[in-house]
Amino acid sequence: MQITISSDPKPSGIANLFVLVAEGDRRPDLPLGKKLRERVDDAIASIGFEGRAEQVVSLAGEGEPKKITLVGIGRRAAVSRRVLRTAIQVVGKIARKNRDASIALVSPYLIPGTDARETTLFLADRLAHADYRFDPYKTGEEGRRFDIGATLIPPKPIDGREAKRLLDRARILADSVRLVRDLGNAPGNELTPAVLAQRAQAVAKESGLSCTIWDKKQIEKMKMGGLLAVNRGSNEEPRFITLEWSPRKAKKTVCLVGKGITFDSGGISIKPSDKMEEMKFDMSGAGTVIGAMRAAALLEIPVRVVGLIPSTENLPSGSAYKPGDIITTMSGKTVEIVNTDAEGRMILCDALHVAKRYEPDHLIDFATLTGACVVALGNEASGLFSNDDELARMLIEAAEKAGEPAWRLPEWDDYKELIRSEWADMKNSGGRWGGAISAAVFLKQFVECPSWAHVDIAGTAYTENENARDPRGATGVGVRMAIRFLEAIA
Ligand code: BES
Ligand code: MN
Ligand code: ZN
Repeated sequence: MQITISSDPKPSGIANLFVLVAEGDRRPDLPLGKKLRERVDDAIASIGFEGRAEQVVSLAGEGEPKKITLVGIGRRAAVSRRVLRTAIQVVGKIARKNRDASIALVSPYLIPGTDARETTLFLADRLAHADYRFDPYKTGEEGRRFDIGATLIPPKPIDGREAKRLLDRARILADSVRLVRDLGNAPGNELTPAVLAQRAQAVAKESGLSCTIWDKKQIEKMKMGGLLAVNRGSNEEPRFITLEWSPRKAKKTVCLVGKGITFDSGGISIKPSDKMEEMKFDMSGAGTVIGAMRAAALLEIPVRVVGLIPSTENLPSGSAYKPGDIITTMSGKTVEIVNTDAEGRMILCDALHVAKRYEPDHLIDFATLTGACVVALGNEASGLFSNDDELARMLIEAAEKAGEPAWRLPEWDDYKELIRSEWADMKNSGGRWGGAISAAVFLKQFVECPSWAHVDIAGTAYTENENARDPRGATGVGVRMAIRFLEAIA
């Protein structure tokens, strides 16, 4: 949706006014003019609207706006980012079904622990995504876009200048997240490593980042043995993408690393065909890094941020890397391949090694790394691993405030035994038990930064099916979290 933020939008420009109502709130303290507020109160009273979660009633009335839609959100004390996301998803669906070309959303409730500004930003950013669909490949009626203009009315009245500031910010975040969703949803035949690199380059140009792309020759020259090993089965060339945001005032450097497997078949250790199509999302970490870099630049965050993205397909073929192979990575460390499906860590280890060159204060990688992480945490939280308690704390807080929680799991050396190899420095898989942890411990072997975190987004980067908060497909997880973190250390 095209969003605006205004405390006094023209009623004549609103086809449908959506009002969030908590349970039993008969006269919500709405930041609206007296006339409109009375109309809402009458609407609630006339039907005895209870405000149960996801209860929805639309009423037509005299004057502008013609329609008022009450959306229940459940108990007032339980208002949370999650509850508001669910309500906004309902709003988007109804607006689209009704073909309301212009809507407004008003909610008097603040997210606990936040001020009106913070809640406004959250609502605006999420409202912008309320009608998100990935439809460039729909050629018929279904693909026809219906554009909705949405005005967010802040919980407390604000002036035009403040509204403009919040809107700029919400748009940058929302557009960056949309970019990540579009990249994730793009099919693997279209979004190859070379195309991903082109897209990164285009984003860099638009947002004022510098961008360097290494092709296969340069990757060979850099001796990125992990990335090259995974690439061997594919007919598509690999790429290594570097994005950089270097503001003059920056005192700190953060490296963001993203897994860019544009399709993961598993390789010789091939995956079952059921749901293999979901492995087009295996470049979601790369998407997150591109989106976060874009937002960091457009928000002019005074931190130097370097994005590092290794990208390839993982496919079986006569030239593919095999179980039993021993690979020398860029760091010089050797890895015995026991499962070619543990390819993410093989490309990330080279990127983590490159990060050393930038002497980062913090090093954070995002990757759809393990099915084991999804077994552990499901789809509600990303897995977070870190060698730095303070960084872990800050990232968990950033994730929570962004409305996309992360939960910490250990990366203790106690688990190193799982990846011990008889013949090489380590093996690339520690087996099923504690699979998310042994993957993190593998990555840790290539990290020299004392403040590193690994975010496993295998369960959060995309939804297998539409749910109450998101449509099916890529979610763009990680961008808002990364931006909050960067702003916190700026
Ligand atoms: N890309 C997958 C992880 C994944 C699984 C992401 C499900 C999203 C949903 C990764 O490359 C992988 O295949 N991991 C293996 C590791 C194992 C072989 C040690 C896994 O999780 O099974
Ligand atoms: Mn894999
Ligand atoms: Zn993978």
